[in-house]
Amino acid sequence: MSRERFAEQVVLITGAASGIGAHLAERFATEGARVALLDVDEAGATAMAQRLPDALAVGVDVSSRAAIREALDLVRERWGRLDIVVNNAATCSDTPFDRIPDHEWERDLAVDLSGPYRLVQEALPDLLRARGNVLNIVSVNGLTHFGNESYSVSKAGLMALTRSLAVTYGPQGLRANAIAPATIVTPIWDDRLERDPHVLDAATKWYPLGRLGQPDDVAHAALFLCSAEASWITGTTLVVDGGLLAGNALLADDIMAQG
Ligand SMILES: NC(=O)c1ccc[n+]([C@@H]2O[C@H](COP(=O)([O-])OP(=O)(O)OC[C@H]3O[C@@H](n4cnc5c(N)ncnc54)[C@H](O)[C@@H]3O)[C@@H](O)[C@H]2O)c1
Repeated sequence: MSRERFAEQVVLITGAASGIGAHLAERFATEGARVALLDVDEAGATAMAQRLPDALAVGVDVSSRAAIREALDLVRERWGRLDIVVNNAATCSDTPFDRIPDHEWERDLAVDLSGPYRLVQEALPDLLRARGNVLNIVSVNGLTHFGNESYSVSKAGLMALTRSLAVTYGPQGLRANAIAPATIVTPIWDDRLERDPHVLDAATKWYPLGRLGQPDDVAHAALFLCSAEASWITGTTLVVDGGLLAGNALLADDIMAQG
């Protein structure tokens, strides 16, 4: 297999200062891509970009159309093309449904769902010219209930948008896919770890493969879906979850014990 599946290609990744997005930036760059790292954390994105051979960091809040336009102009000026957009930035309210305030609900929808809508809409001419790819990082939360309602409905909506883009723009050569990870060890867990240092250990027992995910687990799937190897795959959501959604062994054990 070629080590440079993305030579010459320009990949734009949102939320690229941290966690999965930062790791994706490194992995795409390792395979020859030029990478635009967009993040509300401009200093973090800049630090990441400095580690890559040909990268651009832009401080962007993806809920702002004006900020997205400015970032896309910088990408066009620098490289004159855009092949892949990875919608990865997200926020996630932990407030229970009966107490979630409007501003948290609306922030999650604005960042997690409307951000990708605005970015893909603005980047569409470039992506169609490139016969390129949209990759949306969603979540198992968009497929079944694990709490975090504002986040989960956004991710479910983003899966619907993925299918819509695939069907509408497939005839022009654009592919759109999604990855739905379960628990991946990244800084998104920091607040919860502060409240309960054992939260990740407690989660491990739910995973048939006996471990939590790492950013590289998502990266393998992401690079595959955006590569020529996946040229007949579009509109799909690939679950990357260590078997979490395949079944519920603890429930099965309980039922068998009572049988
Ligand atoms: N880590 C997990 O367990 C997990 C599970 C399922 C899905 N995901 C998804 O993976 C993606 C990456 O998550 P992560 O775990 O790497 O999180 P993370 O918190 O490490 O990184 C998220 C990044 O998004 C940036 N960001 C937040 N709001 C933004 C905005 N308005 N505009 C631009 N950037 C913004 C943050 O600054 C941060 O750098 C998210 O879409 C998340 O929903 C993560």
